[in-house]
Amino acid sequence: MEAQSNKTENYIHGYTVEEQQRLIEQALYWREKLILRDVNFLPGDRILEIGCGAGAVLGVLGQAFPQLQLAGIDLQASQIAYARQHLENLGLLNVDLQVGNASQLPWTDESFNYIYNIWFLEHISNPEPILQEAYRVLKPGGTIMLNETDYRTILIYPESADYRYLQDALCELLLDSGGNPYIGRRLGLLLQKAGFSRVKNLPWAFHYFQGENSQKLRDFIEYIYAWLAPTISQMIEKLGKDEKRLGSGLEFFRSIPDLQESAASIIVYRASAIKVSY
Ligand SMILES: C[S@@+](CC[C@H](N)C(=O)[O-])C[C@H]1O[C@@H](n2cnc3c(N)ncnc32)[C@H](O)[C@@H]1O
Repeated sequence: MEAQSNKTENYIHGYTVEEQQRLIEQALYWREKLILRDVNFLPGDRILEIGCGAGAVLGVLGQAFPQLQLAGIDLQASQIAYARQHLENLGLLNVDLQVGNASQLPWTDESFNYIYNIWFLEHISNPEPILQEAYRVLKPGGTIMLNETDYRTILIYPESADYRYLQDALCELLLDSGGNPYIGRRLGLLLQKAGFSRVKNLPWAFHYFQGENSQKLRDFIEYIYAWLAPTISQMIEKLGKDEKRLGSGLEFFRSIPDLQESAASIIVYRASAIKVSY
């Protein structure tokens, strides 16, 4: 089995405390709309989040379902240290947190009822070994859930050539860092290939526009801006992109809620499947 790279230096969001706090905010932003949508765990279920980062999503799941047995793994030790503290602060003790590579999970076969992934496979160039590992550690009858976007689906109105330039650069940056900006549309195919059954891959669209929706539009734009703005310097340094055009694309994006007639949207894909026992 080909091992996933252990390198984390190309990871586009980095591992600063500000970024870890942003992950916590991000999980709160998506709590009802996405993370808890259509999930139904039983008391005592064991759930593993692969690529759990700062423990933000484990925190949301653990608070909503206090009788879950939580586990998480991340390649970066500082993420796991932050996660441990964050979950303890929420009163979630005894979470099984491990530093390690998703393509070599440190759990025995058939350990979990659920595997949960979110905003993770977009950073992975070779997801197949990771999904094979997920399959191995899932119990027969267990469920896997993947949540990822497609960076081409972050749309704005009115159109802006400079925003398009920025969006192209973002997709290029993810590819350059070993990720996949289009992973959302591939999730179902990947689960089928990994041997899962009853595969679903639903596109959940979120669309906000000026009017009664204005605050939601503003919140959405600010949420995207919070992770997009810090990646601009990498687009300039690593890809040689035009600083002025990127700056103007970002400024236009942020001004969307202040324009008279404006809107923005994104699609997040939820793929789920079962490991059937034969
Ligand atoms: C954008 S963060 C998402 C964290 C978390 N899922 C959340 O939504 O808050 C992606 C995480 O994946 C981790 N990661 C990347 N490659 C990995 C690998 N091969 N094995 C385990 N973790 C990995 C990174 O270190 C990072 O913490």
